Amino acid sequence: MFYPFEMEQYLETLLGERDPLLREMEEQALRETIPVVTPMVGNFLNLLVHMSKAQAVLEVGTAIGYSTIWLARAAKETGGHVTTIDMNKDRLFRAQEYIKRAELTNHVTALEGDARKILKTLDSMFDFVFIDAAKGEYLEYLNLIYPLISPGGLLVVDNVLFRGWVVPGSSFASKYDRMVGGLRQFLQELSSNSDFSTTVLPFGDGVSVSRRIDT
Ligand SMILES: C[S@@+](CC[C@H](N)C(=O)[O-])C[C@H]1O[C@@H](n2cnc3c(N)ncnc32)[C@H](O)[C@@H]1O
Repeated sequence: MFYPFEMEQYLETLLGERDPLLREMEEQALRETIPVVTPMVGNFLNLLVHMSKAQAVLEVGTAIGYSTIWLARAAKETGGHVTTIDMNKDRLFRAQEYIKRAELTNHVTALEGDARKILKTLDSMFDFVFIDAAKGEYLEYLNLIYPLISPGGLLVVDNVLFRGWVVPGSSFASKYDRMVGGLRQFLQELSSNSDFSTTVLPFGDGVSVSRRIDT
């Protein structure tokens, strides 16, 4: 966390009480150290889907479906649909169970497999894409997703500041060199791509928000 933990805790209180299903998932993720988005990022995703009135939503990295539920609850109200991809069969199965319990089955399609393969097979466009899978693969996802984002569509990416270590001058263990370097390169390419208008928000673990400029 690169800002005071007390601030995160305080801001979380402003979200109000989450429902028991989300709380259960948060506790489960904590117990198993499954890195799910923070409640504030989940709420932000929900807000963005609502505000953009997104119809076709794509998520790369489902895990147990925590962020999927935040996205799908908004998609249910916009009349939209979430397609979510994860290569971990067990996690995806558990995500589907949670999605059932959230009564969102009709609003989510879960695809199992390596996103780098699946993305090549998708032939429809998406107006909201959320990336939250392997940090070392972000550049690959970006190149594969780029043609799938509708003009005016949004691309949101989690963990882009990775514990703040992406900020030059930070100190971290050398085993993270590749990941941090990859994320720096990803942010550089995304922010210099003139087809996107991008901002990076320093909350959660760093969230980038880009809008594909209409052409
Ligand atoms: C950070 S977790 C996703 C958390 C989830 N978005 C949430 O906030 O609830 C990352 C997930 O990406 C999946 N993943 C990693 N690399 C992948 C790939 N190449 N294709 C598909 N899934 C991948 C992992 O199996 C893992 O479940």
